[in-house]
Amino acid sequence: MDRGPDITVALAWSIINRIPSEFPEAESGVLKGGGEVGLLREPTRLDNPEPLTFEFQEYGERWTTSHSLCADAQKVLEIYGPLAVKEKWILGQLGQSLDGRIATEAGDSHYVTGDEDLIRLHRIRSMADAVIVGANTVISDNPKMTVRMVEGSNPVRVILDPQGRLDNDSFVFQDRSAKTIVLRGRGISLSQSHPAVEMIDLDYVKGEGFGMSELKSILRQEGYKKILVEGGGVTVSRFLQAGALDRLHITVAPMIIGSGRRGLELSAIESLSEAIKPKCRQFKLGNDVLFDLNLRI
Ligand SMILES: NC(=O)c1ccc[n+]([C@@H]2O[C@H](COP(=O)([O-])OP(=O)(O)OC[C@H]3O[C@@H](n4cnc5c(N)ncnc54)[C@H](OP(=O)(O)O)[C@@H]3O)[C@@H](O)[C@H]2O)c1
Repeated sequence: MDRGPDITVALAWSIINRIPSEFPEAESGVLKGGGEVGLLREPTRLDNPEPLTFEFQEYGERWTTSHSLCADAQKVLEIYGPLAVKEKWILGQLGQSLDGRIATEAGDSHYVTGDEDLIRLHRIRSMADAVIVGANTVISDNPKMTVRMVEGSNPVRVILDPQGRLDNDSFVFQDRSAKTIVLRGRGISLSQSHPAVEMIDLDYVKGEGFGMSELKSILRQEGYKKILVEGGGVTVSRFLQAGALDRLHITVAPMIIGSGRRGLELSAIESLSEAIKPKCRQFKLGNDVLFDLNLRI
């Protein structure tokens, strides 16, 4: 009788969760288990009783294992490995249509990409210390910004609302399951205050936003080393334009919206030689394709 693959998605994900404490900033490493692997809460009995090893190279981008693994488990190791080995990162992410839109003009973005991509989003949230969104996303989506589709702890929610446009009813100001911080423009008088929320004032230039170095140093002072910039397009674009992203996940869905909110939009360039051409890996997530861009190579 044919045996199924030994290494499941759950086991691969538990390996990813072990990496940060055991291999911070390691270019390569080996994790060893036994015939019975105590890596999961419930030890897993493998059909193949040989010692189990997981070996990674290139800072978690390439993995080999002693046992057979299913394609989805390999994907888990390769997609999240590079985030697991790094002690600090700022990752931008967007789910977009073929024509580069992240929502309709009215702000409907639920959902551009499919279930597998949503799980990816919840996994990277669970790996992050803080997750950032811009004010328009809170207005359009009233998001929860918590980890629900996988096990893991909620990151701190950081909302960029320089002009104090958000009202008190938003979920992120009412819910206590994660801390919420609002960054607002210095000297902006608010029509409403958000009692359950920490406010931090920063210098702000209308149309340009906060200075990226002040914004980054506030985040570091707060102790956030792993930061997910979750959207929308304006927010991720400003981080990218300022050279503040280490990696970028763009998931493209086979959908044409034809109008609506744009994903990335940067300053105009004249020649394609000035375009950003990062090292790129691609992963199929259901019907969607994830482009994982390393912006530091
Ligand atoms: N498909 C996806 O992956 C995805 C993800 C998230 C959101 N969305 C959708 O995207 C849409 C919203 O995106 P959006 O591009 O319109 O807006 P957004 O990025 O959510 O918010 C932009 C606003 O946030 C503030 N902001 C952002 N970066 C800042 C900075 N560096 N400094 C200071 N302030 C900053 C500014 O507020 P002020 O205007 O007050 O200055 C800016 O106009 C919604 O429809 C949402 O559903 C899609």
